[in-house]
Amino acid sequence: MKWEPLLAAAGAAQRHAHCPYSGFAVGAAFETESGEIFVGANVENRSYGVTICAERSAVAAAVSAGHRRFRAVVIVTPSTPPGPPCGLCRETMTEFCDPDLPILLANPQGERRMFSLGELFPEPFRLPEGETSGG
Ligand code: THU
Repeated sequence: MKWEPLLAAAGAAQRHAHCPYSGFAVGAAFETESGEIFVGANVENRSYGVTICAERSAVAAAVSAGHRRFRAVVIVTPSTPPGPPCGLCRETMTEFCDPDLPILLANPQGERRMFSLGELFPEPFRLPEGETSGG
């Protein structure tokens, strides 16, 4: 797995974060099964609850462009050690990713931590079989 392009893309997205309220800039990069990279940054709002996290921004961008399967994710936060995704973002990832999806957490100081999605979110919510209606 070549992590450098994803690390660079997530770092660039982090620099575009709109986070005047928290001061906590996050960048995420998702690599699709076809090898394309989609990025997201956190976008805060003066009505705080409207904020969207970097990971969900990236998933929305990818799905909007027709990509629904991912093979690797990088998340860059300012935290030491590098911080994991929030619960909403973990749940979102389970919609589109297998439990063995590798998630590399990084920070600008060069620290790294690796997890699988299944480690971070072992029991996602599931609808009963047959309860999706398409789309
Ligand atoms: N944030 C993310 O972008 N991703 C996460 O997984 C956790 C939190 C953002 C939301 C908010 O803009 C800031 O970090 C502080 O919570």
